[in-house]
Amino acid sequence: MVAKTTIVRYATAFFLVCCFVFSGKQVFAQRDAVPTDPEIISQGEQLFNEYQCNTCHKVDSKLVGPALAGVYDRRDLEWIYSWVKNSQALIASGDPQATALYNEFNQLVMAPYDLEDEQILSILAYVRDVEENPPMPEVAATGDGAAAGGDGSGIPSSYLNIIVAALVVVLILILVVLVIIIGVLKKYLQDKEGLDEADKDVVNEKFSFSAFVKSPTVIGIITFLVIALAAKNVIDGLYTIGVQQGYQPEQPIAFSHKIHAGEYEIACQYCHTGVEIGKSANIPSVNICMNCHSQIKTDSPEIQKLYAAQESGKPIEWVRIHNLPDLAYFNHSQHVKVGGIECQTCHGEIQEMEVVKQHAPLTMGWCIDCHRNTSLNTQGNGYYDKLVELHNKTSGTPMNVEDIGGLECAKCHY
Ligand code: HEC
Ligand code: HEC
Ligand code: HEC
Ligand code: HEC
Ligand code: HEC
Ligand code: HEC
Repeated sequence: MVAKTTIVRYATAFFLVCCFVFSGKQVFAQRDAVPTDPEIISQGEQLFNEYQCNTCHKVDSKLVGPALAGVYDRRDLEWIYSWVKNSQALIASGDPQATALYNEFNQLVMAPYDLEDEQILSILAYVRDVEENPPMPEVAATGDGAAAGGDGSGIPSSYLNIIVAALVVVLILILVVLVIIIGVLKKYLQDKEGLDEADKDVVNEKFSFSAFVKSPTVIGIITFLVIALAAKNVIDGLYTIGVQQGYQPEQPIAFSHKIHAGEYEIACQYCHTGVEIGKSANIPSVNICMNCHSQIKTDSPEIQKLYAAQESGKPIEWVRIHNLPDLAYFNHSQHVKVGGIECQTCHGEIQEMEVVKQHAPLTMGWCIDCHRNTSLNTQGNGYYDKLVELHNKTSGTPMNVEDIGGLECAKCHY
């Protein structure tokens, strides 16, 4: 009896060890089947971006879809091929892994892709490469004075107001202290014997508020203060005519950059398709929203508005926030693509905004300030090689936008 159970025990243990070894073997076999050839990796990276897998997947963390790192460990390669080619067919076939995954991700549909096995394998090669050689964290762009936002007018107006208020408080305190001192002195003198008449008059003189207010000195001071304040406000007002810094209108659909660009890390360029190729950044059409919202949150009343817009064929009437006057020319690709400036430098932390707000004043002074203080992003741009060489011969400072004519009126005004 005893011997028999022992044998059963050993057999079970042996079986488990075998399973472990076998499955372990399979894990490595799968990963090892994914190529590490740099050429294939770069082809995979290209496909990953070109087919926009990157809008829903990251390698190391969850986005709209699962993190792809290690997918070759948890799935069979053949399974991955059929999944990418047509995930819905795989689910419909009753594949338990596919069904479980689909349910885990709230039945979000991943569209079918017309890709060859080899191409999918190259994408996996890219995924493996990123997983095993994670990219170095990017060194934050050095300031270069590019920190925009200030319009170069010295102390911000809000600080001035605080300083003025503090001064007023101090003055009032001094006044109160003086009045108390006068009171104490008067009392002291009154108690003192042997004052002559003249002194008594002074001590007993009643303070007349109306006489005080009517005195020419006080009227003069008050008039001066009122005029100065009014003038300051008028001048401030003139400077801010047409400046809409902080403008944050309500939009027809409660679209949140915080959810899309922040939580789900969808690239700005996915929606603002023009930023790298042209003057205007573009506001996305309903079709772009539908790439996801034909499946995501279909019951939400806000998303229903998208369906209504698509059905009626009328574009959504987003309220425009940033708007330069027609006399000024601004080009996004010049700044983003050539200049290498982050959106956030000019637009603030958009990925944290529920509702977009205008971050910069967009005044001429703001543009000019940055052009004076920002050195050119000349690295790897053959166009600039000769210019930089010439510049360095005559100047010890880095080449700024100013040095290529960034302050010339005609560059910004037609
Ligand atoms: C619109 C978003 C979206 C796009 C684009 C997308 N996927 Fe997916 N993918 C998903 C979702 C969501 C899942 C999880 C299953 C589900 O709900 O369908 C998934 C699952 C997967 C899986 C299985 C992962 C696992 O853990 O088993 C692989 C592999 C995959 N996707 C690869 C790709 C590739 C390759 C591309 C580009 C050719 C791509 N996906 C494009 C949304 C997307
Ligand atoms: C999923 C699509 C989507 C993504 C991703 C996205 N945006 Fe937007 N963006 C919109 C829509 C729609 C609007 C118009 C509605 C609004 O203002 O909220 C908009 C408006 C804006 C505006 C204001 C436009 C105006 O009227 O002046 C700025 C600036 C902006 N986005 C910058 C960004 C930046 C920077 C990122 C990346 C960090 C980004 N967006 C990512 C869809 C997107
Ligand atoms: C790449 C995929 C993707 C694209 C493109 C996209 N969204 Fe979204 N959207 C999401 C995800 C994911 C959520 C969050 C769903 C959740 O909270 O479960 C979401 C949530 C929303 C919500 C909130 C819905 C609610 O009731 O909670 C609104 C509104 C919305 N999106 C509007 C838009 C608009 C407008 C566009 C086009 C300019 C757009 N989305 C484009 C993926 C996307
Ligand atoms: C150097 C400053 C600067 C940078 C960097 C910048 N923008 Fe802009 N952006 C502006 C200005 C100025 C406007 C107003 C343009 C106008 O009215 O003609 C604007 C307008 C916009 C608009 C409104 C639509 C339009 O094209 O007029 C969107 C959307 C936008 N930017 C998105 C982005 C995104 C996304 C990025 C990053 C990829 C970015 N911007 C980078 C300055 C900048
Ligand atoms: C955050 C800094 C920054 C701000 C703000 C900025 N620019 Fe620029 N701008 C640059 C840089 C950097 C370049 C040089 C890009 C390159 O290498 O061509 C540039 C180049 C230009 C050029 C081309 C100059 C030339 O000689 O080729 C024009 C025109 C221009 N900007 C217009 C504007 C306008 C209009 C505004 C304000 C609405 C503005 N910029 C705001 C940084 C900025
Ligand atoms: C880097 C870009 C840039 C350069 C260079 C530039 N401007 Fe401007 N200018 C602007 C912008 C942007 C505005 C609009 C500002 C606003 O609406 O507050 C503007 C506005 C103006 C206005 C209208 C002012 C108003 O209040 O409506 C005049 C006039 C003007 N510029 C003249 C000039 C002259 C003259 C030069 C050359 C010495 C020059 N600008 C160089 C960007 C520039």
